[in-house]
Amino acid sequence: MTDVDIIPVSGLDTDGPGIRRFDAWADLFSTAVGHDLGAEPDERSAHELRVASSNPAIERIRYAARTPSGATIGALDLAFPLQDNTSHAFLRVAVDPGARRCGIGARLADLGEDLARARGRRTVQGQVAAAPEPDVPSPGAAFARARGYTLAQTLIRSDVSTLAAAGALAPPPAGYRIETVVGALPDAWLAAYALFQQRMSTDIPLGELALEEEAWDVERVAAHRDRLIRMGRTCVITMAVDAAGAPVGFTEIQHHPSLGALAYQQDTLVLGEYRGHGLGLILKATNLAALREALPGVETVRTWNADDNTHMLAVNTALGYRLSGLLTEWQLRLA
Ligand SMILES: CC(C)(COP(=O)(O)OP(=O)(O)OC[C@H]1O[C@@H](n2cnc3c(N)ncnc32)[C@H](O)[C@@H]1OP(=O)(O)O)[C@@H](O)C(=O)NCCC(=O)NCCS
Repeated sequence: MTDVDIIPVSGLDTDGPGIRRFDAWADLFSTAVGHDLGAEPDERSAHELRVASSNPAIERIRYAARTPSGATIGALDLAFPLQDNTSHAFLRVAVDPGARRCGIGARLADLGEDLARARGRRTVQGQVAAAPEPDVPSPGAAFARARGYTLAQTLIRSDVSTLAAAGALAPPPAGYRIETVVGALPDAWLAAYALFQQRMSTDIPLGELALEEEAWDVERVAAHRDRLIRMGRTCVITMAVDAAGAPVGFTEIQHHPSLGALAYQQDTLVLGEYRGHGLGLILKATNLAALREALPGVETVRTWNADDNTHMLAVNTALGYRLSGLLTEWQLRLA
């Protein structure tokens, strides 16, 4: 086995060596995942991860595997939700492509699962990004399978050109109004967002993933929105409102300047009782048009959807989204 030290790292460190340890840890995920994808990975920057580290709803434990000369060649990222899903742990492991198949990944995953067990967590979940072609080998999937994890869900990653989506814009159905904001979430929308986030956690196809409804209130939404602004993200949000003024659906795209021409689609939800009126398509088409106007340098929007989320996938196809990758979700029940 390669000689490595396993040392803790934290996004909250403010001293020089601590900051460098965290940067190297975050970079390793990009290097490892990018290697397996053969493409630019969808990894968050060290800066965004640092801001997210202050989220009181999630305890984060992180370790780096370092060589005697101080090079980071392995990384473990553990998240323990504290306000909901408190029997769960979310685990990610990455190993430098030049140090694979030496047991470093297994050592880090053993540590993560032991820590989860020690906290009384009973389910561990992890994600593996994969190329869209089914014949490209996925070390992450092989690793998860070898450790006894089972495939719980497959997500389809797809991309749309902001120009290709231009034709899909249509007026809302009678009785509904569509409103868009760019930037901070208006205070008047906080309560609606709390409901949407809560519903979003279980109102979408979850495959075999055992997840509970998330607990969102106005304070949690406000703190989350504050972190997004501190990360430096621009948020483009479109809301559908019924005749009585009640918010019934929303969609959101976020962009960070470091992403250049790429932006990420976030959650989209139409509350169950308001489905079937084409609001999902109108929300997303309106939001894409607003994004084009606000950020003309953005050329591509990227999204992930469960492979059995037929309604959302149909909306995306109508907007011009095309398959660009896969994300598999793995689950282990701890003994
Ligand atoms: C997945 C990953 C962490 C594995 O790291 P690693 O240090 O090479 O893993 P290990 O050496 O501990 O492998 C443990 C076992 O997993 C399985 N395994 C790992 N990589 C494999 C591969 N490429 N093909 C087949 N089996 C593999 C094997 O059973 C292996 O045992 P063995 O070498 O005795 O046969 C690494 O490939 C990586 O960083 N991938 C990108 C990130 C990722 O997908 N992470 C997934 C978990 S969230």
